[in-house]
Amino acid sequence: MGTVVLGTGSCLPKKILTNAELESIVDTNDEWIRSRTGIEARRIGGKGEKAYQLAANAARKALEAAEVLPEELDLVVVGTISSHMLMPSTACFVQNEIGARNAFAYDLNAACSGFLYGYDLADKYIRADRSKKILVIGVETLSARLDWTDRNTCILFGDGAGAAVFGYSDSDRGLIDAQMGSDGKLWNLLCMHAPKSLNPDLEVEGNPGAHILMEGREVFKHAVRAMEEAVRGVLEKSGLGMKEVDCVIPHQANIRILKNLADRLEIPPEKMFVNVSKYGNTSAASIPIALDEANREGFLAIGKTVLFCSFGGGFTWGAVLTKW
Ligand code: ACO
Repeated sequence: MGTVVLGTGSCLPKKILTNAELESIVDTNDEWIRSRTGIEARRIGGKGEKAYQLAANAARKALEAAEVLPEELDLVVVGTISSHMLMPSTACFVQNEIGARNAFAYDLNAACSGFLYGYDLADKYIRADRSKKILVIGVETLSARLDWTDRNTCILFGDGAGAAVFGYSDSDRGLIDAQMGSDGKLWNLLCMHAPKSLNPDLEVEGNPGAHILMEGREVFKHAVRAMEEAVRGVLEKSGLGMKEVDCVIPHQANIRILKNLADRLEIPPEKMFVNVSKYGNTSAASIPIALDEANREGFLAIGKTVLFCSFGGGFTWGAVLTKW
């Protein structure tokens, strides 16, 4: 018994940008992108598809699946690093859009780990008060925060939103354990500056503007290592082994990171849900989009043991183990 997902939803922009189309934007090619990342296409937000609009659509689907009314929500948390405004938060826009008038709302900045940090947070609130209903969303419109002349980064990311409604169940289901981590020392390996400062004294030296900067090879190594540690940690705390895990839903960064992780942790390919080829890396949205697809495609069944893991800018990482 404990914190369970009552319903999931997702929303992807309509526009599909293929690797072939990227060839006319930067010096790259489909073969390079596929073989290094496993990505074949990504979605790009258009009119009516701002972060809060994608998030609200995903939220409506999750609420419908959960059979929870917007006014029953106590809290709306949105993991994002690409809101269309710095203030108000995307969560406040979503709260207004869906009519969650009894909820308080805020954003959480943990890059690709935003949804798992939100999952952990929802669990803590629900443990403190079992009547709480909490909406956690991961949403990104990183197409607005990419340097489209930098082939090292612009090929990797995509836009989208995923959402889950959390509540309490007194059945034998629920969150088993979670382990979150952060390390700010290596922030510069993966970062996004703020818009230019209007106070010259506070400007960050060499601020190139608000787009993603990344040292790909270094990020790769840290991502595999941190996710492996988080998974081992959460399994150890729960007294379970990988053999007892039925499904793994990892952050969809790229296929080589996932293969490396699967090798180190001896995860059979059929247990791991992967959709990175369709959407690229959607940062905070990647796990909830994958969760919603896995859920709707029947990859998850009641009573299965499901493991989530993530890694992102900060650095931030985490793992959650749950009985679905
Ligand atoms: N198309 C063609 N060539 C390219 C491209 C491209 N899009 N990008 C880089 N190259 C070239 C480089 O210029 C370099 O050429 P050179 O040898 O002439 O200098 C060559 O390809 C190799 O570049 P590397 O950066 O060493 O390539 P690598 O094998 O490391 O692959 C990649 C790059 C895919 C970014 C890899 O490092 C990676 O997957 N890193 C993890 C990054 C990631 O997933 N970040 C997401 C955020 S964090 C997270 O979500 C976990």
